[in-house]
Amino acid sequence: MPSNPVAAIVLAAGKGTRMKSDLPKVLHPVGGLPMVEWVGRALREAKIDPIVMVVGHGGDQVRASLGDKYAFADQGDPLGTGHAVLAARQALSGFKGSVLVVCGDTPLVDAQTFQKLLDAHEGAAMTVATFNVQDPTGYGRIVRDRQNRPIRIVEHKDAAPDQLAIREVNAGLYIFDSEALFSALPKLTNRNKAQEYYLTDVLAILAQEGREIRAAQVADEQSLAGVNDRWQLSEMERVVRRRILRKHALNGVTIQDPDSTYIGADVEIGLDTLIFPGTIVTGDSKIGAKCEIGPYTHLIDVTVGDESEILFTKAKRVTIGSGVKCGPYANLRPNSTLGDNCRIGNFVEINRSTLQDAVKASHLTYLGDAIVGSNTNVGAGTITCNFDGFDKNRTTIGANVFVGSNSTLVAPLTIGDNALTAAGSVVTNDVPADAGAFGRARQETKPDWAQKWRKIKQGNRTNP
Ligand code: UD1
Ligand code: CA
Repeated sequence: MPSNPVAAIVLAAGKGTRMKSDLPKVLHPVGGLPMVEWVGRALREAKIDPIVMVVGHGGDQVRASLGDKYAFADQGDPLGTGHAVLAARQALSGFKGSVLVVCGDTPLVDAQTFQKLLDAHEGAAMTVATFNVQDPTGYGRIVRDRQNRPIRIVEHKDAAPDQLAIREVNAGLYIFDSEALFSALPKLTNRNKAQEYYLTDVLAILAQEGREIRAAQVADEQSLAGVNDRWQLSEMERVVRRRILRKHALNGVTIQDPDSTYIGADVEIGLDTLIFPGTIVTGDSKIGAKCEIGPYTHLIDVTVGDESEILFTKAKRVTIGSGVKCGPYANLRPNSTLGDNCRIGNFVEINRSTLQDAVKASHLTYLGDAIVGSNTNVGAGTITCNFDGFDKNRTTIGANVFVGSNSTLVAPLTIGDNALTAAGSVVTNDVPADAGAFGRARQETKPDWAQKWRKIKQGNRTNP
């Protein structure tokens, strides 16, 4: 735990011009979360409070997306990183202690890095995180004096040729003593190539005042990498995705093919579950233990119990019980629930329906706005006609019902427990418990008809 209070300022007001997007840069998702939310989570994990998000471009959208876990400050027109930090002063009025400043576009930054920088900072006026890079292009360079003390940061655009050669660069993560920071910020000018108020110039101001400045190498280039364009976003996605998969793997989940598996940041998966290739599990999903998920399964906001097998399935906002077998080629649509031990086979679509335990719909079925009681068997080709062209209507099927193949269940309709519908029936009237419903033309069988028919056909061929 830090020895004095620590507040954080997250810079999230920039336009993100290079993203070429209507969405503010910091809201672009990585591993299923807006990238600035990763930064916020790392700060919360480090127990840093308050956290002030400085927003500007698309500020309302950023606030709405992040919610009430954070304080917000409005930068208005983004006039530079120093101007952005100054915008947070009001939100931190009365605060005394250390102020950590981090960019909202560095989703890989973690709580340990913050802690290391806080440890390195003890007693200083300013500490900047740095790293050494092969190619320092674009980064601010750390300029040191003869005693090796950092005396200023020179932005790439403003650097003289000898400064351009410096390989130690500003990582964009800082800790300031609050009093030193807010006394230096009003002294910034925008006399530089970008005509911006650079936060980085605070270092030279404090150095000239003889305050203690430190530069600490607390993390590598990768863990503080920023996202500036869509390709960096794609590469970041890959890194974040592998981190999430690794976490699950180390927690006892088999990820057979990390290259084709996508798991969202907040997904939970139980012990000894196997994830087969081509599987995407996102949103607020929870998978139980000893399940087999995939190959080629897409689950969004789906809960699955234990020991269920879900393959080649698409499901969204669905609750699936334990011991369920689902797929291949099942489509489970929102607000549906499958009880334990259900069996959902190929080309079955379930929409806004509840299937109680051990319901079987093994082939070619549509169940919409339906409630199906336990142990009911829904024959191949069964369709609930839930839409009459105007309204959606409900079908209620009891327990232990045998729905014959190719039943057409015209809703609103209720079928009682233990009832049966004959194959090929169009069922328009309610069926009481234990009854059998026959809604089809009676079969007529004509003796020797097939033979007679063949003779007629053959006769036609030989006598043109
Ligand atoms: C900045 C540093 C540079 C450092 C690099 C590390 C400055 C002047 N330069 O450069 O020394 O090596 O980060 O990645 O700070 N932002 C605002 N309001 C603004 C301007 C920016 O909120 O008015 C936000 C951006 O949204 C972004 C962050 O500040 O999250 C950094 O801004 P950016 O323009 O990306 O700075 P760099 O050029 O990367
Ligand atoms: Ca940047």
